[in-house]
Amino acid sequence: DDLVTRMKNIEMIELGRHRIRPWYFAPYPQIKCKLKHPPGNEIYRKGSISFFEIDGRKNKCYAQNLCLLAKLFLDHKTLYYDTDPFLFYVMTEFDARGFHIVGYFSKEKESTEDYNVACILTLPPYQRKGYGKLLIEFSYNLSKFEGKTGSPEKPLSDLGLLSYRSYWAQTILDILMNVPPVADNEKPIITINEICEMTSIKKEDVISTLQNLNLINYYKGQYIISVNQEIVQQHEKAMEKKWLRIDPDCLYWTPKD
Ligand code: COA
Ligand code: NA
Repeated sequence: DDLVTRMKNIEMIELGRHRIRPWYFAPYPQIKCKLKHPPGNEIYRKGSISFFEIDGRKNKCYAQNLCLLAKLFLDHKTLYYDTDPFLFYVMTEFDARGFHIVGYFSKEKESTEDYNVACILTLPPYQRKGYGKLLIEFSYNLSKFEGKTGSPEKPLSDLGLLSYRSYWAQTILDILMNVPPVADNEKPIITINEICEMTSIKKEDVISTLQNLNLINYYKGQYIISVNQEIVQQHEKAMEKKWLRIDPDCLYWTPKD
């Protein structure tokens, strides 16, 4: 019966020192995971933060369970049992007891739509601390290494959209505010394509972000970006908050082809 299958089925999951109550239904199996770190290759490490790359074909069971774990916190997502076409990037925090999973995202090995994230999750005990944006920044760093722009798979959840909008806005504003003037008394010039190239954010997302921030005008056949004082002040305030960042020098990775 439909109603029964949509009910929450799992009371609690225990993960390291955390006990987490699921938000939605998922056919998550009753298992005990004894791994001290995710399988796959550690491709990034800075301080206590690491990223592991896991091939959905080589580590099928781990990858499927990761998808089911994410489904506990997503109500709209289709479940993929065929994990072969995906790579999984698991972010961990290290302490004396091992590498603890904080969150992850999955990514199609090949995307015809330039998607660079399929599903993204920060486990609830770690949410709202900036880890979601760290995962997002990592996904764009991979795109940059591939020499591409990318975008998350649609539809995004409400929380996903909030996180992406915040990441896009901060990243683009950071660039706009640091464009050097061309010459004395002249306004700095930057094109949308240059922003795409610098950030690996797909053009339509750059444009929608600039529109949301009210920074773009269409004038005489072209887009004009203009930054106003109010936006600058808002951005400076946002930047005062602790912002976890990815250090591309700590990423040891080459795209497969
Ligand atoms: N209410 C209001 N704002 C929220 C929020 C909430 N519950 N959760 C996150 N945000 C905002 C934050 O304020 C932050 O913006 P700011 O820096 O401008 O203040 C931004 O979203 C990102 O926050 P961050 O702490 O980096 O994200 P997170 O670690 O909480 O992870 C998700 C964000 C989306 C990954 C996480 O909520 C999640 O796993 N949700 C369940 C799965 C899901 O919906 N995934 C996305 C679709 S596949
Ligand atoms: Na997403």
